Amino acid sequence: MFAAPVDVDLPAVCRIFRPKDLQNYGMAKERTFPLEFESQKPVYFHPAEPADFACDVLEIGPGRGDLLLWCAANWPTKRFVGIELNGFRCKKLARRVDRRELTNVLLIKGNARVVVPRYFVGATFERIYILFPDPWPKERHAFHRLLSIEFLGVLSDRLKPGGDIVLATDWQPYADWVVANLAAVPQLVNEGTPYVSNMGFLPNNEPTRFEQLWREAGREIFYLRARRR
Ligand SMILES: C[S@@+](CC[C@H](N)C(=O)[O-])C[C@H]1O[C@@H](n2cnc3c(N)ncnc32)[C@H](O)[C@@H]1O
Repeated sequence: MFAAPVDVDLPAVCRIFRPKDLQNYGMAKERTFPLEFESQKPVYFHPAEPADFACDVLEIGPGRGDLLLWCAANWPTKRFVGIELNGFRCKKLARRVDRRELTNVLLIKGNARVVVPRYFVGATFERIYILFPDPWPKERHAFHRLLSIEFLGVLSDRLKPGGDIVLATDWQPYADWVVANLAAVPQLVNEGTPYVSNMGFLPNNEPTRFEQLWREAGREIFYLRARRR
């Protein structure tokens, strides 16, 4: 179902990652995201050999993919790409794409921090959704948090002028960390004060799977929208 692209031709040893490898790599000491190390991991696509990477809307971490599938079905002339780290979720999502016979969806199994700069060049996206990114609440794990100043810079370069990044999280410190990071990226303007309302936040007006879970658990949700100048 997922096939390795031709440009990923790794020696077998690179496919096995153990904590020892990470330590040898210096990750434990540096506390910075090991981009070079992550870049060695294979990336998979569905369909297996994408004709091109020109896409209008990106969702990072679509999980079950309800929003991605809804958008693709309702805007058939636009092209959508979902980048999902979790192989199991990615395979299930690929089956859902196939069952719905959606031909305007590209799925990429990989780490968005590697995949976005590697496969997407220029200001191509109208919108980027990042809904309930893993919060990594412990300080010693903070380098895993996705929306660093550097990665926001990468994303803003891939947005068309006027395009936006749409983010939701149930963890206020994460929302506030992103607000602070946005202030350090000159191409992006936070449209909220600092958060935006959830009215009309998603085009399908339906909570994602994780929003449902956190709402049922009584958690408050924080919504952010940042626009490319
Ligand atoms: C908490 S879930 C949210 C799923 C979905 N957006 C929702 O709201 O129901 C976070 C998702 O992001 C994916 N993810 C985390 N880090 C990622 C990364 N660096 N690149 C791509 N996907 C990532 C996880 O595998 C997971 O499926």
